[in-house]
Amino acid sequence: MEKTVLKNKNGLKGTITIPSDKSISHRAVMFASLAKGKSVINNFSKGQDPHSSLEICKNLGVNAEFQDETTLIIESDGVLKSPFQNLDCGNSGTTMRLMTGILAGQNFNSVMVGDESLSKRPMKRVIEPLTLMGAKIDSIDGHAPLHITGQKLAAIDYNSPLASAQVKSCILLAGLNANGVTTFTEPYVSRNHTELMLKFMNAEINAIGNKVSIVPSVLEPREINICGDISSAAYFIVAALIVPESDIILKNVGLNPTRTGLLDVVQFMGGDVEILDKKNVSGEDVGDLRVKYSDLTGCTIEDGIIPRLIDELPVIAVLATQARGTTIVRDAGDLRNKESDRIKSVVTELKKLGVDIHETSDGFIINGKNKLTGDARLETYHDHRLAMSWYVAGLVCEKPIVIDGFEWAAISFPEFVEKFELLS
Ligand code: S3P
Repeated sequence: MEKTVLKNKNGLKGTITIPSDKSISHRAVMFASLAKGKSVINNFSKGQDPHSSLEICKNLGVNAEFQDETTLIIESDGVLKSPFQNLDCGNSGTTMRLMTGILAGQNFNSVMVGDESLSKRPMKRVIEPLTLMGAKIDSIDGHAPLHITGQKLAAIDYNSPLASAQVKSCILLAGLNANGVTTFTEPYVSRNHTELMLKFMNAEINAIGNKVSIVPSVLEPREINICGDISSAAYFIVAALIVPESDIILKNVGLNPTRTGLLDVVQFMGGDVEILDKKNVSGEDVGDLRVKYSDLTGCTIEDGIIPRLIDELPVIAVLATQARGTTIVRDAGDLRNKESDRIKSVVTELKKLGVDIHETSDGFIINGKNKLTGDARLETYHDHRLAMSWYVAGLVCEKPIVIDGFEWAAISFPEFVEKFELLS
Protein backbone atom coordinates (compact mmCIF):
# COMPACT_ATOMS: atom_id res chain seq x y z
CA MET A 1 0.00 0.00 0.00
CA GLU A 2 1.33 3.45 -0.83
CA LYS A 3 0.68 6.53 1.29
CA THR A 4 0.97 10.14 0.19
CA VAL A 5 1.97 12.62 2.90
CA LEU A 6 1.52 16.38 2.55
CA LYS A 7 3.25 19.20 4.38
CA ASN A 8 1.49 20.22 7.64
CA LYS A 9 1.03 24.00 7.45
CA ASN A 10 -0.93 24.78 10.63
CA GLY A 11 0.88 22.83 13.33
CA LEU A 12 -0.25 19.73 15.24
CA LYS A 13 -2.75 20.52 17.99
CA GLY A 14 -4.78 18.52 20.50
CA THR A 15 -4.63 15.48 22.76
CA ILE A 16 -4.33 11.78 21.93
CA THR A 17 -3.92 8.61 23.97
CA ILE A 18 -0.92 6.52 22.99
CA PRO A 19 -1.85 2.86 22.34
CA SER A 20 -0.46 -0.19 24.08
CA ASP A 21 3.23 -1.00 24.43
CA LYS A 22 4.36 -3.73 22.02
CA SER A 23 7.23 -5.06 24.17
CA ILE A 24 5.05 -5.32 27.28
CA SER A 25 2.17 -6.91 25.33
CA HIS A 26 4.45 -9.75 24.13
CA ARG A 27 5.59 -10.42 27.66
CA ALA A 28 2.11 -10.21 29.17
CA VAL A 29 0.69 -12.89 26.89
CA MET A 30 3.73 -15.18 27.18
CA PHE A 31 4.11 -14.93 30.96
CA ALA A 32 0.34 -15.25 31.59
CA SER A 33 0.51 -18.44 29.49
CA LEU A 34 3.19 -19.82 31.83
CA ALA A 35 1.15 -19.05 34.98
CA LYS A 36 -1.45 -21.52 36.26
CA GLY A 37 -4.87 -19.86 36.40
CA LYS A 38 -6.66 -16.86 34.91
CA SER A 39 -4.86 -13.64 33.97
CA VAL A 40 -6.55 -10.51 32.66
CA ILE A 41 -4.53 -8.32 30.29
CA ASN A 42 -5.93 -4.81 29.88
CA ASN A 43 -4.97 -2.71 26.84
CA PHE A 44 -3.31 -5.51 24.82
CA SER A 45 -1.67 -4.16 21.63
CA LYS A 46 -3.55 -4.26 18.31
CA GLY A 47 -0.19 -4.54 16.52
CA GLN A 48 0.51 -7.60 14.39
CA ASP A 49 3.69 -8.54 16.30
CA PRO A 50 2.06 -9.12 19.72
CA HIS A 51 -0.71 -11.00 17.92
CA SER A 52 1.97 -13.37 16.56
CA SER A 53 2.94 -14.10 20.19
CA LEU A 54 -0.72 -14.58 21.12
CA GLU A 55 -1.34 -17.06 18.28
CA ILE A 56 1.72 -19.06 19.28
CA CYS A 57 0.56 -19.27 22.90
CA LYS A 58 -2.81 -20.57 21.63
CA ASN A 59 -0.98 -23.16 19.53
CA LEU A 60 0.76 -24.27 22.72
CA GLY A 61 -2.59 -25.13 24.31
CA VAL A 62 -3.34 -21.90 26.16
CA ASN A 63 -6.91 -20.60 26.28
CA ALA A 64 -7.03 -16.96 25.19
CA GLU A 65 -10.18 -14.93 24.48
CA PHE A 66 -10.75 -11.21 23.92
CA GLN A 67 -13.44 -9.85 26.24
CA ASP A 68 -13.50 -6.66 24.16
CA GLU A 69 -11.14 -5.16 21.55
CA THR A 70 -8.12 -4.99 23.86
CA THR A 71 -8.99 -6.93 27.03
CA LEU A 72 -7.48 -10.38 26.79
CA ILE A 73 -8.35 -13.20 29.18
CA ILE A 74 -5.73 -15.95 29.42
CA GLU A 75 -6.49 -19.26 31.12
CA SER A 76 -3.66 -21.71 31.41
CA ASP A 77 -2.89 -24.78 33.47
CA GLY A 78 0.69 -23.49 33.55
CA VAL A 79 1.97 -26.32 31.34
CA LEU A 80 2.50 -25.72 27.62
CA LYS A 81 1.43 -28.48 25.20
CA SER A 82 3.22 -29.87 22.17
CA PRO A 83 2.09 -27.80 19.11
CA PHE A 84 0.43 -29.43 16.10
CA GLN A 85 2.04 -27.04 13.63
CA ASN A 86 5.07 -24.82 13.06
CA LEU A 87 4.98 -21.71 15.24
CA ASP A 88 4.79 -18.62 13.03
CA CYS A 89 6.49 -15.51 14.47
CA GLY A 90 5.66 -13.39 11.40
CA ASN A 91 7.86 -10.25 11.42
CA SER A 92 8.50 -10.36 15.16
CA GLY A 93 12.03 -10.80 16.51
CA THR A 94 10.76 -10.45 20.08
CA THR A 95 8.38 -13.39 19.57
CA MET A 96 11.06 -15.60 18.11
CA ARG A 97 13.81 -14.82 20.60
CA LEU A 98 11.69 -14.89 23.77
CA MET A 99 9.71 -17.99 22.76
CA THR A 100 12.95 -19.83 21.94
CA GLY A 101 13.98 -19.34 25.59
CA ILE A 102 10.63 -20.72 26.75
CA LEU A 103 10.51 -23.63 24.31
CA ALA A 104 14.10 -24.83 24.69
CA GLY A 105 13.32 -26.19 28.18
CA GLN A 106 9.98 -27.89 27.41
CA ASN A 107 9.50 -31.66 27.21
CA PHE A 108 8.37 -31.48 23.56
CA ASN A 109 9.82 -30.37 20.23
CA SER A 110 8.84 -27.31 18.21
CA VAL A 111 9.71 -25.43 15.03
CA MET A 112 9.72 -21.62 14.90
CA VAL A 113 9.36 -19.88 11.53
CA GLY A 114 9.23 -16.23 10.44
CA ASP A 115 8.62 -14.00 7.41
CA GLU A 116 11.26 -12.98 4.84
CA SER A 117 12.69 -10.17 7.00
CA LEU A 118 12.75 -12.20 10.25
CA SER A 119 14.34 -15.19 8.48
CA LYS A 120 17.35 -12.98 7.66
CA ARG A 121 17.85 -11.78 11.26
CA PRO A 122 20.56 -13.30 13.48
CA MET A 123 19.43 -15.96 15.96
CA LYS A 124 22.92 -17.12 16.99
CA ARG A 125 22.78 -14.53 19.76
CA VAL A 126 20.17 -16.71 21.50
CA ILE A 127 21.19 -20.13 20.14
CA GLU A 128 24.73 -19.86 21.53
CA PRO A 129 23.89 -19.10 25.19
CA LEU A 130 20.95 -21.53 25.14
CA THR A 131 23.28 -24.23 23.80
CA LEU A 132 25.58 -23.54 26.79
CA MET A 133 22.53 -24.33 28.94
CA GLY A 134 22.16 -27.70 27.17
CA ALA A 135 19.51 -26.65 24.64
CA LYS A 136 19.32 -28.37 21.26
CA ILE A 137 18.41 -25.94 18.47
CA ASP A 138 19.04 -26.67 14.81
CA SER A 139 19.12 -23.95 12.16
CA ILE A 140 20.92 -23.16 8.94
CA ASP A 141 23.68 -20.73 9.85
CA GLY A 142 21.79 -19.28 12.83
CA HIS A 143 18.66 -18.25 10.95
CA ALA A 144 14.99 -19.25 11.20
CA PRO A 145 13.45 -21.80 10.89
CA LEU A 146 14.63 -22.93 14.31
CA HIS A 147 14.11 -26.62 15.13
CA ILE A 148 14.01 -26.95 18.91
CA THR A 149 14.33 -30.31 20.65
CA GLY A 150 13.04 -29.71 24.19
CA GLN A 151 15.59 -30.54 26.95
CA LYS A 152 16.07 -30.11 30.68
CA LEU A 153 18.28 -27.00 30.92
CA ALA A 154 21.21 -26.20 33.18
CA ALA A 155 21.59 -22.75 34.75
CA ILE A 156 24.40 -20.50 33.49
CA ASP A 157 26.25 -17.34 34.38
CA TYR A 158 26.36 -15.58 31.00
CA ASN A 159 28.29 -12.48 30.03
CA SER A 160 26.55 -11.12 26.96
CA PRO A 161 28.62 -9.21 24.38
CA LEU A 162 25.40 -7.36 23.41
CA ALA A 163 23.07 -5.11 25.39
CA SER A 164 19.87 -6.75 24.18
CA ALA A 165 16.57 -7.14 26.01
CA GLN A 166 15.57 -9.90 23.62
CA VAL A 167 18.68 -11.97 24.41
CA LYS A 168 18.42 -11.18 28.13
CA SER A 169 14.72 -12.12 28.24
CA CYS A 170 15.37 -15.34 26.31
CA ILE A 171 18.00 -16.47 28.83
CA LEU A 172 15.95 -15.40 31.86
CA LEU A 173 12.93 -17.32 30.53
CA ALA A 174 15.10 -20.39 29.98
CA GLY A 175 16.43 -19.85 33.52
CA LEU A 176 12.89 -19.84 34.91
CA ASN A 177 12.81 -23.54 34.12
CA ALA A 178 16.51 -24.51 34.62
CA ASN A 179 18.19 -26.40 37.46
CA GLY A 180 19.74 -23.52 39.43
CA VAL A 181 20.33 -19.77 39.49
CA THR A 182 20.85 -18.24 36.03
CA THR A 183 22.70 -14.93 35.79
CA PHE A 184 22.84 -12.62 32.77
CA THR A 185 25.21 -9.65 32.53
CA GLU A 186 25.13 -7.14 29.65
CA PRO A 187 27.44 -4.23 28.75
CA TYR A 188 24.66 -1.63 29.28
CA VAL A 189 21.19 -1.98 30.75
CA SER A 190 18.61 -2.80 28.07
CA ARG A 191 14.83 -2.51 28.58
CA ASN A 192 13.80 -4.33 31.75
CA HIS A 193 10.11 -5.16 31.17
CA THR A 194 10.83 -8.88 31.58
CA GLU A 195 12.42 -8.37 34.98
CA LEU A 196 9.58 -6.11 36.19
CA MET A 197 6.79 -8.35 34.95
CA LEU A 198 8.34 -11.62 36.15
CA LYS A 199 8.74 -10.05 39.60
CA PHE A 200 5.12 -8.79 39.47
CA MET A 201 4.09 -12.41 38.75
CA ASN A 202 6.00 -13.80 41.75
CA ALA A 203 9.31 -14.90 40.17
CA GLU A 204 12.44 -14.72 42.30
CA ILE A 205 14.46 -12.33 40.16
CA ASN A 206 17.02 -9.73 41.16
CA ALA A 207 18.67 -7.00 39.12
CA ILE A 208 21.67 -4.97 40.22
CA GLY A 209 22.96 -2.60 37.54
CA ASN A 210 23.46 -4.55 34.35
CA LYS A 211 23.39 -7.98 36.06
CA VAL A 212 20.18 -10.00 36.55
CA SER A 213 19.73 -13.34 38.34
CA ILE A 214 16.71 -15.61 38.27
CA VAL A 215 15.84 -18.58 40.48
CA PRO A 216 13.52 -21.22 38.93
CA SER A 217 10.07 -20.01 39.99
CA VAL A 218 6.37 -20.71 39.56
CA LEU A 219 4.54 -17.72 38.03
CA GLU A 220 1.20 -16.59 39.45
CA PRO A 221 -1.60 -15.24 37.25
CA ARG A 222 -2.31 -11.51 37.52
CA GLU A 223 -4.32 -8.62 36.16
CA ILE A 224 -1.85 -6.68 33.99
CA ASN A 225 -2.50 -3.11 32.81
CA ILE A 226 -0.35 -2.25 29.79
CA CYS A 227 0.70 1.38 29.35
CA GLY A 228 1.16 3.28 26.08
CA ASP A 229 4.27 2.64 23.99
CA ILE A 230 6.94 5.35 24.14
CA SER A 231 8.28 3.99 20.84
CA SER A 232 4.88 4.83 19.26
CA ALA A 233 4.74 8.17 21.09
CA ALA A 234 8.15 8.97 19.54
CA TYR A 235 6.59 9.77 16.13
CA PHE A 236 4.27 12.37 17.67
CA ILE A 237 7.01 13.78 19.90
CA VAL A 238 9.30 14.32 16.91
CA ALA A 239 6.49 15.60 14.68
CA ALA A 240 5.40 18.20 17.24
CA LEU A 241 9.02 19.31 17.78
CA ILE A 242 9.64 19.91 14.06
CA VAL A 243 6.27 21.09 12.67
CA PRO A 244 6.02 24.86 13.39
CA GLU A 245 3.24 26.00 15.78
CA SER A 246 2.63 22.49 17.18
CA ASP A 247 1.47 22.00 20.77
CA ILE A 248 0.15 18.54 21.68
CA ILE A 249 -0.56 16.33 24.69
CA LEU A 250 0.18 12.60 24.61
CA LYS A 251 -1.60 10.61 27.30
CA ASN A 252 -0.61 7.31 28.92
CA VAL A 253 3.01 7.14 27.71
CA GLY A 254 5.22 4.44 29.27
CA LEU A 255 8.18 6.15 30.98
CA ASN A 256 10.26 3.18 32.09
CA PRO A 257 13.77 4.71 32.44
CA THR A 258 15.25 1.94 30.27
CA ARG A 259 13.10 3.26 27.38
CA THR A 260 13.30 7.06 27.77
CA GLY A 261 16.57 7.77 25.94
CA LEU A 262 14.63 9.82 23.37
CA LEU A 263 13.43 12.23 26.08
CA ASP A 264 17.02 12.72 27.28
CA VAL A 265 18.19 13.42 23.73
CA VAL A 266 15.34 15.84 23.09
CA GLN A 267 16.14 17.73 26.28
CA PHE A 268 19.78 17.88 25.22
CA MET A 269 18.81 19.27 21.80
CA GLY A 270 16.67 21.99 23.39
CA GLY A 271 13.26 20.43 22.74
CA ASP A 272 10.24 21.43 24.81
CA VAL A 273 8.78 18.24 26.32
CA GLU A 274 7.10 18.41 29.70
CA ILE A 275 6.03 15.40 31.81
CA LEU A 276 2.62 16.25 33.26
CA ASP A 277 1.44 13.44 35.48
CA LYS A 278 3.70 10.55 36.45
CA LYS A 279 2.40 7.38 38.14
CA ASN A 280 3.20 3.65 38.38
CA VAL A 281 0.93 1.10 36.68
CA SER A 282 1.57 -2.67 37.04
CA GLY A 283 5.21 -1.97 37.96
CA GLU A 284 5.86 0.45 35.05
CA ASP A 285 6.23 4.28 35.16
CA VAL A 286 3.61 6.09 33.07
CA GLY A 287 2.85 9.77 32.37
CA ASP A 288 1.37 12.35 30.02
CA LEU A 289 3.63 14.48 27.83
CA ARG A 290 3.15 18.01 26.48
CA VAL A 291 5.29 18.66 23.40
CA LYS A 292 5.74 21.99 21.60
CA TYR A 293 7.53 23.08 18.43
CA SER A 294 11.16 23.89 19.35
CA ASP A 295 14.38 25.33 18.04
CA LEU A 296 16.80 22.38 18.14
CA THR A 297 20.55 21.88 18.05
CA GLY A 298 22.39 18.69 17.07
CA CYS A 299 24.10 16.37 19.57
CA THR A 300 26.08 13.13 19.86
CA ILE A 301 24.20 9.94 20.72
CA GLU A 302 26.46 7.08 21.82
CA ASP A 303 27.35 4.46 24.47
CA GLY A 304 24.87 3.44 27.15
CA ILE A 305 22.01 5.58 25.88
CA ILE A 306 21.76 3.51 22.65
CA PRO A 307 19.75 0.57 24.11
CA ARG A 308 17.41 3.13 25.75
CA LEU A 309 16.39 4.54 22.34
CA ILE A 310 17.34 1.80 19.90
CA ASP A 311 13.93 1.67 18.17
CA GLU A 312 13.66 5.47 18.00
CA LEU A 313 16.84 6.03 15.95
CA PRO A 314 15.10 6.23 12.54
CA VAL A 315 12.76 8.97 13.77
CA ILE A 316 15.63 10.62 15.68
CA ALA A 317 17.35 10.85 12.28
CA VAL A 318 14.31 12.77 11.01
CA LEU A 319 14.50 15.01 14.10
CA ALA A 320 18.19 15.68 13.49
CA THR A 321 17.49 16.92 9.95
CA GLN A 322 15.64 19.85 11.56
CA ALA A 323 18.31 20.65 14.17
CA ARG A 324 21.08 23.22 13.67
CA GLY A 325 24.58 21.72 13.59
CA THR A 326 25.78 18.14 13.53
CA THR A 327 24.12 15.09 15.06
CA ILE A 328 26.30 11.99 15.38
CA VAL A 329 24.89 8.55 16.15
CA ARG A 330 27.49 5.89 16.97
CA ASP A 331 27.78 2.56 18.86
CA ALA A 332 24.53 1.56 17.17
CA GLY A 333 25.87 -1.20 14.85
CA ASP A 334 23.03 -3.54 15.90
CA LEU A 335 20.68 -1.27 13.93
CA ARG A 336 21.87 -3.27 10.93
CA ASN A 337 20.14 -6.37 12.42
CA LYS A 338 16.67 -4.91 12.93
CA GLU A 339 13.63 -5.40 10.67
CA SER A 340 15.86 -3.84 7.99
CA ASP A 341 19.48 -2.62 7.99
CA ARG A 342 18.34 0.63 9.57
CA ILE A 343 21.65 2.41 9.04
CA LYS A 344 21.65 1.80 5.30
CA SER A 345 17.91 2.33 4.85
CA VAL A 346 17.78 5.58 6.88
CA VAL A 347 20.74 7.02 4.97
CA THR A 348 19.47 5.92 1.53
CA GLU A 349 15.94 7.20 2.02
CA LEU A 350 16.73 10.51 3.75
CA LYS A 351 19.20 11.33 0.96
CA LYS A 352 16.20 11.22 -1.41
CA LEU A 353 14.77 14.18 0.55
CA GLY A 354 17.99 16.18 0.21
CA VAL A 355 19.34 15.49 3.72
CA ASP A 356 23.07 15.92 4.35
CA ILE A 357 23.58 12.45 5.92
CA HIS A 358 26.56 10.07 5.94
CA GLU A 359 26.67 6.37 6.74
CA THR A 360 29.25 5.04 9.22
CA SER A 361 29.87 1.43 10.30
CA ASP A 362 27.89 1.86 13.52
CA GLY A 363 25.60 4.82 12.89
CA PHE A 364 25.22 8.00 10.84
CA ILE A 365 26.10 11.69 10.82
CA ILE A 366 23.59 14.39 9.89
CA ASN A 367 24.46 18.02 9.22
CA GLY A 368 21.46 20.28 9.76
CA LYS A 369 19.34 22.16 9.41
CA ASN A 370 18.02 20.73 6.13
CA LYS A 371 15.15 21.94 3.99
CA LEU A 372 13.44 18.69 3.01
CA THR A 373 12.53 18.75 -0.66
CA GLY A 374 9.90 16.04 -0.86
CA ASP A 375 8.69 15.08 -4.34
CA ALA A 376 10.17 11.61 -3.75
CA ARG A 377 9.09 7.98 -3.33
CA LEU A 378 10.42 6.37 -0.13
CA GLU A 379 10.84 2.63 0.54
CA THR A 380 9.98 0.88 3.83
CA TYR A 381 12.04 -2.35 3.49
CA HIS A 382 9.39 -4.43 5.39
CA ASP A 383 10.12 -2.19 8.39
CA HIS A 384 7.33 -0.55 10.41
CA ARG A 385 9.58 2.01 12.07
CA LEU A 386 10.73 3.32 8.69
CA ALA A 387 7.14 3.63 7.41
CA MET A 388 6.20 5.79 10.39
CA SER A 389 9.43 7.82 10.37
CA TRP A 390 8.95 8.73 6.70
CA TYR A 391 5.40 9.89 7.46
CA VAL A 392 6.82 12.31 10.07
CA ALA A 393 9.44 13.53 7.58
CA GLY A 394 6.67 14.11 5.02
CA LEU A 395 4.97 16.60 7.36
CA VAL A 396 7.90 19.01 6.91
CA CYS A 397 8.71 18.36 3.23
CA GLU A 398 8.20 21.20 0.76
CA LYS A 399 6.38 18.91 -1.71
CA PRO A 400 4.34 15.72 -1.06
CA ILE A 401 6.11 12.38 -0.64
CA VAL A 402 4.85 8.88 -1.41
CA ILE A 403 5.70 6.04 0.99
CA ASP A 404 5.72 2.57 -0.58
CA GLY A 405 4.78 -0.37 1.68
CA PHE A 406 3.12 1.83 4.28
CA GLU A 407 1.06 -1.17 5.48
CA TRP A 408 4.13 -2.26 7.51
CA ALA A 409 3.19 0.41 10.10
CA ALA A 410 0.52 -2.03 11.36
CA ILE A 411 3.23 -4.32 12.74
CA SER A 412 3.30 -2.17 15.86
CA PHE A 413 0.78 0.65 15.33
CA PRO A 414 -2.33 0.04 13.16
CA GLU A 415 -3.97 3.23 14.52
CA PHE A 416 -1.02 5.44 13.47
CA VAL A 417 -2.61 7.56 10.71
CA GLU A 418 -5.94 7.83 12.53
CA LYS A 419 -4.11 9.27 15.57
CA PHE A 420 -2.16 11.75 13.41
CA GLU A 421 -5.36 12.90 11.74
CA LEU A 422 -6.82 13.73 15.19
CA LEU A 423 -3.99 16.25 15.65
CA SER A 424 -4.08 17.85 12.19
C1 S3P B 1 12.71 -5.49 22.20
C2 S3P B 1 14.04 -5.24 22.33
C3 S3P B 1 14.84 -4.52 21.36
C4 S3P B 1 13.98 -3.75 20.37
C5 S3P B 1 12.81 -4.54 19.89
C6 S3P B 1 11.94 -4.99 21.05
C7 S3P B 1 12.01 -6.24 23.24
O1 S3P B 1 15.65 -5.43 20.66
O2 S3P B 1 14.75 -3.32 19.28
O3 S3P B 1 12.01 -3.79 19.00
O4 S3P B 1 10.76 -6.21 23.30
O5 S3P B 1 12.69 -6.91 24.04
P1 S3P B 1 17.11 -5.82 21.24
O6 S3P B 1 16.91 -6.08 22.67
O7 S3P B 1 17.57 -7.05 20.53
O8 S3P B 1 17.96 -4.62 20.95
